[in-house]
Amino acid sequence: MEEMKKGLEGVVALDTKISFIDGIQGILMYRGIRIEDLVDLPYDAVSYLLINGKLPDEAELNEYSLKLKENRHINCKLVDFLKDLSLGSEELDGLRTAISCTAHFDEENNHHTVDANQNKTARLVAKFPTIVAALHRGSHGLDVISPDNDLSHGANFLYMLTGRMPTELEAEAMEKDLILSAEHELNPSTFSLRIAASTLSDMYSAVICGLCTLKGPLHGGARKGVMDMMDEIGNIENAKDYVLGKLERKEKVMGFGHRVYKTYDPRAKIYKDVARRLAIENGDTSWFDMAEEIEHILYHEFVEMRGKPIYPNVDFYSAVVYKYLDVPAELATSIFAMGRVSGWIAHCMEQYSDNRVIRPRAHTI
Ligand SMILES: CC(C)(COP(=O)(O)OP(=O)(O)OC[C@H]1O[C@@H](n2cnc3c(N)ncnc32)[C@H](O)[C@@H]1OP(=O)(O)O)[C@@H](O)C(=O)NCCC(=O)NCCS
Repeated sequence: MEEMKKGLEGVVALDTKISFIDGIQGILMYRGIRIEDLVDLPYDAVSYLLINGKLPDEAELNEYSLKLKENRHINCKLVDFLKDLSLGSEELDGLRTAISCTAHFDEENNHHTVDANQNKTARLVAKFPTIVAALHRGSHGLDVISPDNDLSHGANFLYMLTGRMPTELEAEAMEKDLILSAEHELNPSTFSLRIAASTLSDMYSAVICGLCTLKGPLHGGARKGVMDMMDEIGNIENAKDYVLGKLERKEKVMGFGHRVYKTYDPRAKIYKDVARRLAIENGDTSWFDMAEEIEHILYHEFVEMRGKPIYPNVDFYSAVVYKYLDVPAELATSIFAMGRVSGWIAHCMEQYSDNRVIRPRAHTI
């Protein structure tokens, strides 16, 4: 038997056409297109691209967006259930249970035809934001807000979460956040989803596997970690002592470093620009200034101590964006899942289309 690689590090497990990462040059592509060229499109177009393999033309985009909008509503029994459910449970646990309930309301849950899978795709992508917003409002004793079909996917989420119409820039920031979260090759949640799909389990079950894996603090939980860290630091004057203290104690500073990227994460650059613009619109640049100060301190400390820099990853400036959007930290992982669901579904379809059960071996020791 072959040598065991702990954590499957460096093991190539499958071929994919969905995304490509070059961690040395800092390149991320969805379906062969660099994310810098995708980030100004609507989330719906990028979701279509990931799932269908090509960008939609105008008619295809209109049809897909309409189908998503028609599916934004959630069953009123589910709304009542969410209100009870959300009291006292973690947001991602609630989301996982709600997606499982949604499967029960979907008559096509266990149908595996192309049409059924397309219908389930639209239902899943469309209902995630409604469920995340409803869970959050329910757990805070607030009325659940119905979707507004005049708004984009991202803007509608912010509206359902806060009850306030987002500004143009806030809506743009949310759309970009969902696009940048949508796909990242064979990360842990996507891998677990592909294992479920490879047994020919249904799409809801596969997505729930993804959610369960995303929940872990070593995967989807880091963005909340950055938001908590920023609250703990409090203001820019405390940043240096905080960072140096962490390094001295050999602790990790959240939102820095990456297993694959050894240069600036291309998503972090885009988030940084959005965070800067939101800070200016907000008239208070203090979160952004503090974040930039942390970046500079870490960069220089690493160059001095180790002769090589360290860069922010996707979770660092996205957390600053969430601060300006007034998104609560406990929602950070659920919002990540709202974007990632399109990538998950694309991987589920790719697995179904050329399937072999994923079943590695173990050395008995
Ligand atoms: C993402 C992460 C797990 C990658 O880990 P990795 O592949 O082991 O990282 P590297 O091998 O490149 O680390 C090289 C060195 O830099 C240190 N380092 C890496 N990230 C660091 C961070 N965020 N803060 C402080 N030191 C860090 C490591 O401890 C290691 O030090 P050592 O050689 O003394 O052991 C790690 O960077 C991390 O935990 N970051 C913080 C959490 C986070 O933001 N996660 C989201 C990832 S998208």
